[in-house]
Amino acid sequence: MFESLERLPPDPILGSMAAYRADDDPAKVDLGVGVYRDERGDTPILAAVKRAEAAVLARQTTKSYVASIGNARFNRALEELTLGAMHPALLGGRVRTIQAPGGCGALRLGAELIKASAAGSVVHVSNPTWANHTPLIGGSGLRLAHYAYYDAASGGLDFAGMVQALGKLPAASVVLLQASCHNPTGVDLTEAQWRELLPVFRRGALLPFIDMAYQGLGRGIAEDTFGIRLFAAELPEVLVAVSCSKNFGLYRERTGALHVVAAAAAAADTALSQLARIARTIYSMPPDHGAAIVQEIMTSDALRTAWLDEVGSMRARMAGLREDLVKHLSAACPERDFSCIARQHGMFSLLGIDPAQVQTMRVKHHVYMMDDSRINIAGLRAGNLAYVARAVAQVLRERAE
Ligand code: LMR
Repeated sequence: MFESLERLPPDPILGSMAAYRADDDPAKVDLGVGVYRDERGDTPILAAVKRAEAAVLARQTTKSYVASIGNARFNRALEELTLGAMHPALLGGRVRTIQAPGGCGALRLGAELIKASAAGSVVHVSNPTWANHTPLIGGSGLRLAHYAYYDAASGGLDFAGMVQALGKLPAASVVLLQASCHNPTGVDLTEAQWRELLPVFRRGALLPFIDMAYQGLGRGIAEDTFGIRLFAAELPEVLVAVSCSKNFGLYRERTGALHVVAAAAAAADTALSQLARIARTIYSMPPDHGAAIVQEIMTSDALRTAWLDEVGSMRARMAGLREDLVKHLSAACPERDFSCIARQHGMFSLLGIDPAQVQTMRVKHHVYMMDDSRINIAGLRAGNLAYVARAVAQVLRERAE
């Protein structure tokens, strides 16, 4: 049976991670996969997570099943973290949450729910978007299309193009947005721009499907969820896929959730019943350990405060690295303006070099990034910034000569 299968290339992001690991050059730099790294290049377990984990293990008396919708206290804690405890949609009983195997699982659950509601839906994603959005959402059978988003010339947002594209969509189209720290561009909507988008969504009866993988790593915990809070208060329906991979550092524990905001409590209950069935038919139940840790952190004042401090440090480190990278690039390559990198947020930026130059960075300089020149800012550190900047300048000059 399996002889007929076609051999597939590795996933681009995971493939870059494997290529980096296999490179034994001591100068190698990994700016590929989006994981947070500290000044030593490590991806440590957060101290708040370690403490919460110890408490969970000490208290846990069974490994019996939880439920298809996961841990109810974790779900509630994430609702409050995403929306704020006093959000009108929460107070109005319009929000339901299903725990998911990471943000990826949440995105797929959302896609499956959309398919169950309207199988012919098209999901409109930003141009560009995270490489895995296409297979994750497309794998459900839904079609994808792109709307204007990134302005490569300025390294900023093509907001006029975005509004124009969304304004022309057929009624009830689904629009995938990113709450903050846009992957792969680092270019986010301002609060004023979220406000301007609201009537576009209202007029077109568009369904916002918001991916939030980096809460707290852009501008702040509440700031990064501004658009979600606004849309959930003002629109009848919103889907939000949340990941705890980056802000809790729980990558391999596969911890996330899908929030459904519906027009009324009964519709929200119906949607949750569908999601529970979808989960049961794909993987039955989500892994528990990461969710138990997040619940522990969110329900203890001391752990929550410690976690918020750690998120604040990660955010500050990445913002500082952005400034430092601009300085080093400007010194190594004064003919080019890299200042947009410092105006962007979160883990990612597009360097704006072509795939052949990316390949040269990899082969000649052992600096790994994605083919579209997406770099993980957190992979930089004092010890490699100048090296990376010189390598970028060199590949740019080789092309110019
Ligand atoms: C990334 O974009 O590199 C991360 O979100 C990790 C992944 O799974 O792709």
